[in-house]
Amino acid sequence: MMKTIIQFFKEAKQTEKKISVVTCYDYSFAKIISETNIDSILVGDSLGMVIQGHSSTLPVTLEDIIYHTKAVKRGASNKFIIADLPFLSYQISTEQCILSSGRILKETDADAVKVEGATDEILEAIFKLQKMGVPVMGHLGLTPQSFQVLGGYKVQGKDENQANEILSDAKKLEQAGVYSIVLEMLPASLGEKISKELKIPTIGIGAGLNTDGQVLVLQDLLGMNESFTPKFLKKFANLNQITKNAINEYNKEVKEKTFPSRENSF
Ligand code: KIV
Repeated sequence: MMKTIIQFFKEAKQTEKKISVVTCYDYSFAKIISETNIDSILVGDSLGMVIQGHSSTLPVTLEDIIYHTKAVKRGASNKFIIADLPFLSYQISTEQCILSSGRILKETDADAVKVEGATDEILEAIFKLQKMGVPVMGHLGLTPQSFQVLGGYKVQGKDENQANEILSDAKKLEQAGVYSIVLEMLPASLGEKISKELKIPTIGIGAGLNTDGQVLVLQDLLGMNESFTPKFLKKFANLNQITKNAINEYNKEVKEKTFPSRENSF
């Protein structure tokens, strides 16, 4: 029998195996990912930027997340799937957080939900959700739903007070019952410190070398957006160029009347 997401993440930390996570938002890519060795898929609210073309994650709705998670699940039912709770679908009250999480699990069959931050309402909701059997992942550091108060998309926890606050929030999230925490855009030393002090695994993005796992946005690691070049990103392919070349080649063959050929005809 397949392990649960909680068991898998826990064992990985205990045995010091790095956890790999990639975002995905659609069936076609999910199907490809299902045939790779990646451990887990995050249907992130980054879809607001990557798929919908917005300048932040704020416009993403619960319906959007449910729609995309269903598509991903159809393509990669063999992977652990985590779905983001989008802006204003969980921050208002503990009840709202539980109801939104419940809808995601009921309607998409995802394995877990993810929340940003560690307010009292969120901590209480996490506690209740894990009692109900719902795995919750936390997210600290640069939490994109709060980019306005964090001063934009920049490294967090650079001064001691802020670093201590993030460490304390991580401990509160662990205590409340999250099975893992995403650490985004932190100094490497803080990423390492938090990872060492927690029993649950941390998943880093721009948080240095020593978190327990890594997450990247799929389209970023595939190099689809030429102009997106943050320091934390490594492009493992140049799909931007490969895609343009293929489309230009197709265009050329249509214009030159070499496609379709006899082989493509009935
Ligand atoms: O929405 C997202 O893709 C995320 C990851 C970048 C961690 O939250």
